[in-house]
Amino acid sequence: MPSDDRTTIDPEKIPVHVAIIMDGNGRWAKKKLLNRVKGHEKGSDTVRTIVRVSRELGVRYLTLYAFSTENWGRPKAEVMALMSLLKKFIHSEKKEMMDHHIRLNALGQIHRLPGDVKETLKKAMDETRDNDGMCLNLALSYGSRDEITEMVRAIADKVKHGEIPLTAITEDMIASHLFTAGMPDPDLMIRTSGEMRISNFLMWQLSYAEIYFTPTLWPDFSEKEYLKIIADYQGRDRRFGKVAE
Ligand code: IPE
Ligand code: IPE
Ligand code: MG
Repeated sequence: MPSDDRTTIDPEKIPVHVAIIMDGNGRWAKKKLLNRVKGHEKGSDTVRTIVRVSRELGVRYLTLYAFSTENWGRPKAEVMALMSLLKKFIHSEKKEMMDHHIRLNALGQIHRLPGDVKETLKKAMDETRDNDGMCLNLALSYGSRDEITEMVRAIADKVKHGEIPLTAITEDMIASHLFTAGMPDPDLMIRTSGEMRISNFLMWQLSYAEIYFTPTLWPDFSEKEYLKIIADYQGRDRRFGKVAE
């Protein structure tokens, strides 16, 4: 990797939490007259690259949107291919995660995943549990509306049983009932493929994230472009509703 790409990055201002909507695998394949699954396969190579670069830069949390609650509605063959790719990815990356102290975590309705995928995932999460390097969050069967619905149910249940008063419901308490409990909110959210929407991703957590949309399709997304986006992020003025100093 040419070192001059990294000299544009301020090591003191690395985003703590980066979230990515990895989109455009299908269109990448279509452009090449290939099956959509080939796009997902190529996309998993991009995942490896972005995990490595994030870790090398010192990003503490990397959250990747890999499968949404709505994606269950895709043709069965594509869903199965995505699940089998996921399993393959976790298997092949286990050593890399251990070598580099990455902790694997999953956000979403894990119970809906096929049994073998669930097992592989749980095992990898267990084995990497004590790793103190970057936390890699895979959003799997994840939907923000589902996450918020579950949070409301859990809190309502506590109120109903008299465990907490209404005044105990605070923003912090709500955050602690989401899949991202205990994690800082994303500083930077990137979506590839040119779509400018959130698609049910981290709606609570993205309140103050800097958002970057790129037309690049996920399989073509590179280390170089990622570094360019981080440099752009570092030039932004995050005011959080206040007045610039
Ligand atoms: C992103 O690529 C991967 C998943 C949503 C699982 P897509 O499969 O959505 O690709 P496009 O948007 O059809 O090009
Ligand atoms: C969002 O992409 C979900 C993931 C990247 C996993 P989609 O391709 O499913 O979203 P829409 O359909 O364009 O909104
Ligand atoms: Mg898509």
